[in-house]
Amino acid sequence: MNRPVMEGMRLNVPAHIKHQRLVAWVAEIAALTEAESVYWCDGSAAEYDRLCEQLVAAGTMKKLNPELRPRSFLASSDPSDVARVEDRTFICSEKQEDAGPTNNWMAPAEMRALLQTGEQALFRGAMKGRTLYVVPFSMGPLGSHISHIGVELTDSPYVAISMRTMTRMGRPVLDLLGEDGAYVPCVHTVGAPLAAGQKDVPWPCNKTKYIVHYPETREIWSYGSGYGGNALLGKKCFALRIASTMGRDQGWLAEHMLILGVTNPEGRKFHVAAAFPSACGKTNFSMMVPPQGYAGWKVTTVGDDIAWIKPHADGRLYAINPEAGYFGVAPGTNDLTNPNCMDSLKADVIFTNVALTDDGDVWWEGMTDTPPAHLIDWQGKDWTPAIAKETGAKAAHPNARFTVAATNNPVLDPDWDNAAGVPIDAFIFGGRRSTTVPLVTQARTWVEGVYMAATMGSETTAAAAGQQGVVRRDPFAMLPFAGYNMADHFQHWLNIGSTLGDKAPAIFCVNWFRKGADGKFVWPGYGENMRVLEWMLGRVTGTAQGEDNVFGVSPRYDDLRWDGLAFSRAQFASVIGIDKAAWQQELALHAELFQQLEYHLPAELPATMARIEARLAA
Ligand code: GTP
Ligand code: SPV
Ligand code: MN
Repeated sequence: MNRPVMEGMRLNVPAHIKHQRLVAWVAEIAALTEAESVYWCDGSAAEYDRLCEQLVAAGTMKKLNPELRPRSFLASSDPSDVARVEDRTFICSEKQEDAGPTNNWMAPAEMRALLQTGEQALFRGAMKGRTLYVVPFSMGPLGSHISHIGVELTDSPYVAISMRTMTRMGRPVLDLLGEDGAYVPCVHTVGAPLAAGQKDVPWPCNKTKYIVHYPETREIWSYGSGYGGNALLGKKCFALRIASTMGRDQGWLAEHMLILGVTNPEGRKFHVAAAFPSACGKTNFSMMVPPQGYAGWKVTTVGDDIAWIKPHADGRLYAINPEAGYFGVAPGTNDLTNPNCMDSLKADVIFTNVALTDDGDVWWEGMTDTPPAHLIDWQGKDWTPAIAKETGAKAAHPNARFTVAATNNPVLDPDWDNAAGVPIDAFIFGGRRSTTVPLVTQARTWVEGVYMAATMGSETTAAAAGQQGVVRRDPFAMLPFAGYNMADHFQHWLNIGSTLGDKAPAIFCVNWFRKGADGKFVWPGYGENMRVLEWMLGRVTGTAQGEDNVFGVSPRYDDLRWDGLAFSRAQFASVIGIDKAAWQQELALHAELFQQLEYHLPAELPATMARIEARLAA
């Protein structure tokens, strides 16, 4: 099946490694991919610096002006490799029904033939002329009972350095693995082998792409892309798709959620986990600065993208952030909307696909009101405001991102690295909807909350390749990230809720993105979202009032605090209102989703829909 280990192939196994199964697997993948050499990452600063220099020499990255942006780099990807590829992402469970109708599926044997075992298998010889980096990483604090270890084998040094920032990576993980520790094997290649003497390109990749998960054997195989969630396999592939199936089997949850701490002026601290789809505001909400009129309130970040949530002995749900860094959206980020994020980006950052200023710094759309007079755009071309006006060319790609350590965040929560996690008081689900969905609604029961999460819709964004701005159902903000049947995910949430009793977190649904007739967002968003958060916390403690609507409880104008913001009753009405006709159409979309997910769909969900329909008709 596999070709024998190549003559003379050097595995370069460090002397401290005693894990024979790990060594054998590295040997097997090195042989399959015909990597030129093998390098075991230790995660040290010296190694990081060396690989950065190497990436600069290769033309993948540029070093930014050290006076303006110390120890920071700009990486520029191939224009064809700029976002997650959902149509090339596969859940290869033994049974198709376990992947469910919302996932691409192929039988594991068939996929293995395509990738590994067939004569023409894509991974055969895929790393020719390249170094295979062994990247050991922990998702979650090292040694926590909630954490899990992975090892990524990749031929991309950009991936290796990014994994150092995004995870706990290197020698301590290998030490923890010992002689026989369990790890999730992750194999990644950019799919661009080099013939002898062939010159490399700055961003090697392949137009054929496969992002593949085997949930039963907990393996990840990724081919052809070097970008983001396609390639940093600890993130969406492991911490969401594989981990969600682990959670289903073991009674916990892996969710596409930020986690924040919020302390009120009396010093009481709450923790909230919020699921918004990609590029819909998680990073921003997790580091929000409370606005004027909120003296004494403080928001701190536990995580900005992923939460692993487990029932605790005290009967509550506790969450950890499995990541150690942020791979966040650059465009739209500025000193007004997210000053904490801007502060995080002052040094030690890898930017990808933003624009380069003439003095060697970075810029992106929305960073400043007035763009610089001249830039090099994300594709290396000259950019001026005049060119942009004429051609519509963006200086930064809309999915341009920064990679930065969590420890750069000035409002990092003191418990962000706590192995026990933080107790969750409320869950929030929110899509990007120009119409229909109110600013905030509280579910009256856990089941109603699961219904809201399950039926959530959102307009598609640049975080994934494909059409943008199209409303699609994105249950739990997990449509692209569920490693198993979405209907089973709904049931899993219902099951967990039924064990929590009165310790269940409250559930809310939000929408920051309703637009007015002028096409502009009506709600000011960002820090002003604190007003909605305060109301939600008031609902948790029983101090805030609201009014029943057809599917939950929403605040009236006077139930929110407006100190320091001019926002009229009419404006509020336009973001909180429920339009009957629009909701009848919306419910038709819920029905469509339920039809698609008919197999295993929990009966509570269509029953909840029937109650909403009855109230709407009344
Ligand atoms: P992923 O990293 O893709 O999972 O995205 P995310 O959910 O963390 O989204 P992020 O916070 O990076 O925001 C994405 C885009 O939405 C950015 O351009 C933000 O400026 C914008 N955004 C975030 N919060 C708000 C808000 O409250 N209102 C408005 N209008 N835009 C927002
Ligand atoms: C997302 O798309 O939700 C992200 C970016 O957080 S990526 O890591 O590319 O998935
Ligand atoms: Mn995300």
